[in-house]
Amino acid sequence: MRLSNLLAVAAALLGADVHAEVAKLPLPKSCSGVPNMRYQYTINPAWTVMKIAGSLKQVRTIIWDTEGNMLVQQNTRGVSVHTFGADGCINSTNMLISGGGLNHGLDLTPDGKTLYASSETTLYSWAYDPLTRKVSNQKTVVKDMSTGVHSSRTVKVVPGQPNLVLLQVGSNSNLDMAAQQPSTGRACIKVFDVNKVPSGGYNYNTQGEMFGFGLRNEIGFVPDPNGVFWGVENSGDDFTRTENGQRRDIHTNNPAEKLNNLGDPRTVRNAWYGYPTCFSVWDPSSFTNSLKTGQHFVIAPNTSYNDATCNGKAIAPRLTFQAHSAPIWNTFDDEAKNIWDPAGRGLFVGSDNSAEGEIYILSPKS
Ligand SMILES: *[C@@H]1O[C@H](CO)[C@@H](O)[C@H](O)[C@H]1NC(C)=O
Ligand SMILES: *[C@@H]1O[C@H](CO)[C@@H](O)[C@H](O)[C@H]1NC(C)=O
Repeated sequence: MRLSNLLAVAAALLGADVHAEVAKLPLPKSCSGVPNMRYQYTINPAWTVMKIAGSLKQVRTIIWDTEGNMLVQQNTRGVSVHTFGADGCINSTNMLISGGGLNHGLDLTPDGKTLYASSETTLYSWAYDPLTRKVSNQKTVVKDMSTGVHSSRTVKVVPGQPNLVLLQVGSNSNLDMAAQQPSTGRACIKVFDVNKVPSGGYNYNTQGEMFGFGLRNEIGFVPDPNGVFWGVENSGDDFTRTENGQRRDIHTNNPAEKLNNLGDPRTVRNAWYGYPTCFSVWDPSSFTNSLKTGQHFVIAPNTSYNDATCNGKAIAPRLTFQAHSAPIWNTFDDEAKNIWDPAGRGLFVGSDNSAEGEIYILSPKS
């Protein structure tokens, strides 16, 4: 279990999504009725960790409404809503939306009145009332997303233009060669104008506009205060590198996972990040040329396409992470001086079938 697992939660709780008018709660010393932490962990000695909720199913997304209530996307269980007492502990928990195949994506408009949540194939919206903590008027916004190995769909409202909603679909296999074509509607993030939803919802593959593609599985992305989105990309498995007819196994420490600067969705369209042709180096010692960590490479260079071709065509990541460390989300702190990129799954998400997801507050020791 890595420290970074714990950061998942701090990231969510420190995130800039909480409205300024909501009173800041104290950091609780303990919360009655919350069982001990299930998992072994190590923590930087300058930080403390405090468990506030357990028995959750695979926590995928945590957001905050305009009243300071916490909404939690639990994979396939649905969306729960949690209120807080004056001591900083959770004092009520209810299901807001149950089932429906909702498995990852969750977001609210900046006014807090429209909620979005996604299943593998469909993006839904609801009217949301943060005072009664109830939803109404369910609508299908986007439908017919591809199915495949990557079943989670990240959704984010564009804060500077909340009629625009970003919706992500990953590749349908480790190396989804067809996803080179944006028309497949895979390995990409599209933009949809929710003021113009056709009857029955947009078709993901044929409608909307392409924000970015060549993104193997951009599972988490958030805006900075300027409206520029930053996302984490889960990269490939089982990699080899073929040079001069010789194939070597490079999978242990390559390719890198990525932090991408995706740009401002009010202006950027059709940006290409390389998948399934170009990948990022984590460990340069796997390569015989002088590639550095963070540069792009191709699996098998040839006379028409080599590493340099990638580095000229595909947008490079801003930061790379250890291979297979799989960031699941990212977020900025209040002043956007730090970005948090939680990696690893066990502690944050829980395993497939049991209710062992937990939520923690991390805070620096004062
Ligand atoms: C939770 O605490 C808040 C703040 O003290 C209070 O207004 C609310 O009534 C409490 N809710 C429950 C269910 O205890
Ligand atoms: C050269 O490599 C590129 C990128 O991987 C690939 O699309 C292309 O088919 C290859 N060409 C040949 C002749 O193998």
